[in-house]
Amino acid sequence: MRARITGTGTYLPQQVLTNEDIEQRIDTSDAWIFSRTGIRARHVAAKDETTSDLAEHAARKALEAAGRSADDVDLIVVATCTPEIIFPACGALLQCKLGVTRGAAFDVNAVCSGFLYALAVADKFVASGQAKCAVVVGTEVFSRLLDWSDRRTCVLFGDGAGAVVLEPHAEHGILSTHLHADGRQADILRADGYVNDGQLHDHAFLHMDGRAVFRFAVTALESVCQEALATNNLHGSDIDWLVPHQANIRIITATAQKLGLPPERVVTTVEHHGNTSAASVPLALDSAVRDGRIQAGQHVLLEAVGGGMTWGAALLRW
Ligand code: UT7
Repeated sequence: MRARITGTGTYLPQQVLTNEDIEQRIDTSDAWIFSRTGIRARHVAAKDETTSDLAEHAARKALEAAGRSADDVDLIVVATCTPEIIFPACGALLQCKLGVTRGAAFDVNAVCSGFLYALAVADKFVASGQAKCAVVVGTEVFSRLLDWSDRRTCVLFGDGAGAVVLEPHAEHGILSTHLHADGRQADILRADGYVNDGQLHDHAFLHMDGRAVFRFAVTALESVCQEALATNNLHGSDIDWLVPHQANIRIITATAQKLGLPPERVVTTVEHHGNTSAASVPLALDSAVRDGRIQAGQHVLLEAVGGGMTWGAALLRW
């Protein structure tokens, strides 16, 4: 059996922060942000909105699209690096909010690659018959991890959630998943805060060496995409849709070019919500599913790279 995505859903918080809005606060410009990243706007969660709230909205839409209810769900895997509390896991909080009462519910943290990691884990459960209806969610409230006076990072990220439902299918679904990590690269993208004795210590804001991450991302993404293609005896020309991590349009374009994919076959949403970390791939995927671009039988390639460093890809027959 394969694990097939039978429904997708997303949620973006109501408040939109445009590049022009940020221009009013710090020394930056729409021209700089757009030319370097392709981002025009990002969404910011309301004060009382939590990571599991965002996840709940996205998961409910994905379940509706799949024609499933909470009673059907027997596995929840949430990808996040911005949980609202230390524990219980966001997955457990989401399980309660959805009214799901059976199966496992847990989180994976692979930062921006989180959705690929969560999808790969859930794939193993569904393809092996251990789960019949899995909800996989990427959900982040990155705005609370940002130093809003640091123009090198605060313009890049946003909040959001994306979810998919995975169910068994004999033919269609995930063909292969490919995950990697290189902990030696931990320093180039990190948030160092930790709790000790009831207190938050160290620097709890996101810190990034943008150029190093950029260089790493372009190489890692090409390599993992080629690995996914080779595993399935496919070439770039066989891919109908590349659904990349929505971090930076220049990284997306470079990866597509290396795979020989024209821009028409690349799904991009980064302009509208910036880098939403683990939510990024399911946000882009949902947009192309709902507007009818992605059709049954097509080859869809998902990829992401993030803190760790971590990176991954998944190749699907839709
Ligand atoms: O999931 C993975 C997450 N991370 C990423 O994907 C990020 C990967 N990296 C990048 O996308 C790029 O490195 C950035 C977009 C972050 C930065 O672009 P860059 O072309 O690498 O710029 P830079 O950091 O080398 O900075 C160039 C200049 C600097 O000025 P000086 O020193 O040359 O005078 C910065 O101070 O741009 C300046 N700068 C800004 N100017 C206006 C940096 N941030 C801003 C800003 N507005 N927001």
